[in-house]
Amino acid sequence: MFIHKNLLGTKSLSNDAITTILDTADSFKEISTRPIKKVPALRGKTIINLFFEPSTRTRTSFEIAGKRLSADVINISGPSSSSVKGENLIDTALNLEAMHPDIMVVRHALSGASEMISQHVKCPIINAGDGFHEHPTQALLDLHTIREAKGSLEGLNITIVGDIAHSRVVRSNIYAMKTMGMNVKLIGPPTMIPQGIDKMGVSVGYDFEGVIHDTDVIMMLRLQKERQSRYLLSSIREYSNLYCLTSKVLEKAKDDVLIFHPGPVNRGIEISPDIMRSKRSLILTQVTNGVAVRMALMYLLLGGKNDTSN
Ligand code: CP
Repeated sequence: MFIHKNLLGTKSLSNDAITTILDTADSFKEISTRPIKKVPALRGKTIINLFFEPSTRTRTSFEIAGKRLSADVINISGPSSSSVKGENLIDTALNLEAMHPDIMVVRHALSGASEMISQHVKCPIINAGDGFHEHPTQALLDLHTIREAKGSLEGLNITIVGDIAHSRVVRSNIYAMKTMGMNVKLIGPPTMIPQGIDKMGVSVGYDFEGVIHDTDVIMMLRLQKERQSRYLLSSIREYSNLYCLTSKVLEKAKDDVLIFHPGPVNRGIEISPDIMRSKRSLILTQVTNGVAVRMALMYLLLGGKNDTSN
């Protein structure tokens, strides 16, 4: 059973809730391979995508997910909204709600923006990424992709590498992966690993090559230069020397290790292009699975049972 009204983060999701989302996504995935990629599950429903930050994957994925379930999907980007005339975020949300959407999907640079909106409007809110805080649907699609490749999640070791401090993807993944019984190791430059993050039940290290021998999944993160208030690296070249995933680093890993990156990728800085193309890379599978996971989530938030036969 799925009892949540909103999806603001993964912190509040139980093992059962995550399993329900992943199982429902499994049953929706096949729809995207049909010649007619549409089912009537959300016919007559209206979804508003409200994006105040750039996005390629998440915004498109929510739009495709909504349309594959026959919902009407409206996209609003920050620069084309009345926020540029001075309207505040709550007023924007209240005005959109006055047109009776069934779900609002929100991306914003402000940590807590989705939660703030959820306190003012009645319709379900999905957090599509808020500042450094959370990006729950990214974590759910990551879990779906790992489970699909490995069969289960319990007991798997994941190493997440790079700009931990600025990553909302990391926070959502830590909560969800710990709930699902995975072991999480964080690796990056000391300036990019927040003090006290080990209290989230993860281990922390700085030596990438030294720790990957027993990992089942390596997740590389983007260097988020746009979120850094001061420059935290002596040089990009030094960062790449220590933390770029290359074939030389990968020699130290298991033969069946899986490689993930949430995107967008800085090619050659976090990960070398040949590794992105290798059979161990599931970067584009993550994107494919994002559609099924977002279909599942919107369906469940709107009261759907785990029956997608229609
Ligand atoms: N992974 C992710 O959030 O990508 P976008 O910024 O393109 O949506």
